[in-house]
Amino acid sequence: MTINHQSDLEALQKIGAVVAEARDAMGQAVEPGITTGDLDAIGKSVLDKHGARSAPQLAYKFPAATCISVNDELAHGIPSPRRMLKSGDLVNIDVSAELDGYWADTGASFAVGIVSARDLELLAVTKQALHDGMREARAGNALREIGRAVEKRAQRSGFAVVRNLCGHGVGRFIHEPPSVPNTKAEGSRQRLWEGLVITIEPFLTTGASSYYEASDGWTLRTPDGSRGAQFEHTMVITKGAPIVLTRAA
Ligand code: CO
Ligand code: CO
Repeated sequence: MTINHQSDLEALQKIGAVVAEARDAMGQAVEPGITTGDLDAIGKSVLDKHGARSAPQLAYKFPAATCISVNDELAHGIPSPRRMLKSGDLVNIDVSAELDGYWADTGASFAVGIVSARDLELLAVTKQALHDGMREARAGNALREIGRAVEKRAQRSGFAVVRNLCGHGVGRFIHEPPSVPNTKAEGSRQRLWEGLVITIEPFLTTGASSYYEASDGWTLRTPDGSRGAQFEHTMVITKGAPIVLTRAA
């Protein structure tokens, strides 16, 4: 969506803060022995407390409140009381929700217990790639400059960017145009404009630049078992730095 009124911004800030709170409450609970079902319950309780509704459930009938993806799962992993996290895992938590007709979307990846140095680097570089992309996210700049910045950060550290998993417009629905790709080649020359609400969400891996859908009909995984990470913010485009709606409190 494009923000027209102060009231749009305030409503987006409200749901942005809710999904950020859920993401961070879940992230703080990550430890060996917890199940992804437990984490989902924590996220759901935050959404419920604020009267927000899970976006994947509402928009796509996803079978849980949040998406939790482990190791070679990139996105749309289904939380389960049978999926216990163990030391050495990487876990991605993606929370999106609706409140009063406004939608926001955020994600972050976390280390479980002790992980390899390369996996820690993957987390740090993916987060940095999000911030590099955000630096290009301003009115008048071409959309594909975001992907170019993300790709450059990944390549510098020898990580791959997953194609076809993209940021997107958001605000009045969970997925709106435009698509915000993480590579220059996929990105358009279309220019960003003031008030546009988008997500940026780089997906980086230790190897694969593609994914496939698992037999559960939801989970997206790397074809070669390589591990992925994702960080995502919802933001409003301005002439300067974007207004980030999903920062930590
Ligand atoms: Co998103
Ligand atoms: Co998301």
